[in-house]
Amino acid sequence: MTKIISIHSFRGGAGKTNLTASLAYLLFKEGKKVAIIDADIGSPGVHVLFGLDSDSLEYTLNDYLWKRVSIDKIVLDVSQTIDPDGTGKLYIIPSSLSMSDIARVLREGYDSNLLIQGFYQVNKDLDLDYLLIDTHSGIEEKTLLILAMCDVLLTIMRPDKQVYQGTSVALEVEKQMDIPVRLLLLNKVLPAIDTDSVKKEIESVLEVPLGGILPFSEEMMLLGSEGIFSKEYPDHPLTKVFQDVLEKVK
Ligand SMILES: Nc1ncnc2c1ncn2[C@@H]1O[C@H](COP(=O)(O)OP(=O)(O)OP(=O)(O)O)[C@@H](O)[C@H]1O
Ligand SMILES: [Mg+2]
Repeated sequence: MTKIISIHSFRGGAGKTNLTASLAYLLFKEGKKVAIIDADIGSPGVHVLFGLDSDSLEYTLNDYLWKRVSIDKIVLDVSQTIDPDGTGKLYIIPSSLSMSDIARVLREGYDSNLLIQGFYQVNKDLDLDYLLIDTHSGIEEKTLLILAMCDVLLTIMRPDKQVYQGTSVALEVEKQMDIPVRLLLLNKVLPAIDTDSVKKEIESVLEVPLGGILPFSEEMMLLGSEGIFSKEYPDHPLTKVFQDVLEKVK
């Protein structure tokens, strides 16, 4: 059975897309069949990390939502380019980064049910082990509908008071949903932060298990979304945390 993992944050820029790509890559390296859906239709970017520019995308999720093509036309098999010797499968379902497409989605909206139907269709067609969904930040209704369908919800946040308060609202809403596994990941954590007290506070106040403390990484900043972190830095402490997170949700 496919396990659906959604990656979410209350605020933008928390590290969702980079985390999603790294987790997907690690699963693929283990020989799993994995797909990433770029459901952050308002601020997409998964394909960029896979070295694909917008011109090279024949179709995107936007074309599917506007009923121009069926969902199978959007699926890109990147397994060979990522690792020609890999035994797993890695697919991405990109969203459009074209200004006019994003403007149209923001102006007209889209049919969430069609999107969710598309997810299930992809699952069935590709016989996946894991489907990773990179979501839009915040708690608008369309995002919550996507979160409601997952088996595992990874909420990622930076250690910042504003983010903390917003995330607590998001977690409260998500608590009402019937999601089997929910974990909070703290990202961009500097060494000076007292992780023990942060862990205690998160687990008692936010009432969600802390799934991992992801260190701030200069290498990640330097990579600048021009690659997949766990592929480029397999022995980095941050990659080790990604692996630990996967062990908790596999
Ligand atoms: N652990 C980390 N250490 C340092 N920089 C990081 C770390 N994780 C992510 N970043 C950087 O933070 C920025 C935002 O990351 P990313 O695009 O993955 O976030 P996002 O949550 O998907 O953003 P958006 O909401 O805009 O889609 C990127 O420049 C990325 O390189
Ligand atoms: Mg993103």
